[in-house]
Amino acid sequence: MRILIAKDYDGMCRNGADLIAAQLLLKPNCVLGLATGSTPCGIYDRLAEKYSAGELDFSAVHSVNLDEYVGLPPENDQSYRYFMQKNLFDRVNIRRENTHVPNGLAEDIEAECRRYEQLTAAYGYPDLQLLGIGLNGHIGFNEPDESFPVATHRVSLTESTIQANSRFFKSLDEVPRAAVTMGIGTIMRARRILLAISGENKKEIARAAILGPVTPRVPASVLQLHPDVTVILDEAAAALL
Ligand code: PGA
Repeated sequence: MRILIAKDYDGMCRNGADLIAAQLLLKPNCVLGLATGSTPCGIYDRLAEKYSAGELDFSAVHSVNLDEYVGLPPENDQSYRYFMQKNLFDRVNIRRENTHVPNGLAEDIEAECRRYEQLTAAYGYPDLQLLGIGLNGHIGFNEPDESFPVATHRVSLTESTIQANSRFFKSLDEVPRAAVTMGIGTIMRARRILLAISGENKKEIARAAILGPVTPRVPASVLQLHPDVTVILDEAAAALL
């Protein structure tokens, strides 16, 4: 694991955007695995700036997102498709048809999970997968469990994740209770992984994920077994490393 500690959130985002930009320069037709949440927002801002400055070209890039809520349509401002359009896709020249997010409205969610896994496999899995981490150690929506889920699957969200996500909804009742997420096996097949961690409230989970035992109780700890992981943190999140 490579660990890059920046002074603050902005510095961490610059590091993240630079590493993604380097991936695009090395392989203009790369497959990016993308993530939602507050942490990547600043990274997407920097990427949009680089694009506006003429430094990046997304025209041959394909993307697969980690997850999507079950039951939210793409036009709902809390859906992850909406998030990606607003924070990145609509700001750069990636082609809409080259971007993929699980379909949370699929009638048959199990079939949608199989379709999404096959689509990701057909791409040969991401060249670079961007990840955030939940307070409980989740990556994507792979919550703490007895074992590591392998492939794309449907999950019931834990109470702590529902609480954490409720800040984006008008009321707790509106927070979806289920999601489709890439599995740990899907994530681990990415060639390179970029894990972004920011903020004082993430310092304990950062330590557990990076230095603690590898256990499905802390899903992100599995990344210790991946051959090419870069963790980017700000000083607040790195305080216990
Ligand atoms: P956050 O979420 O970036 O909004 O803290 C991270 C996650 O839950 O993966």
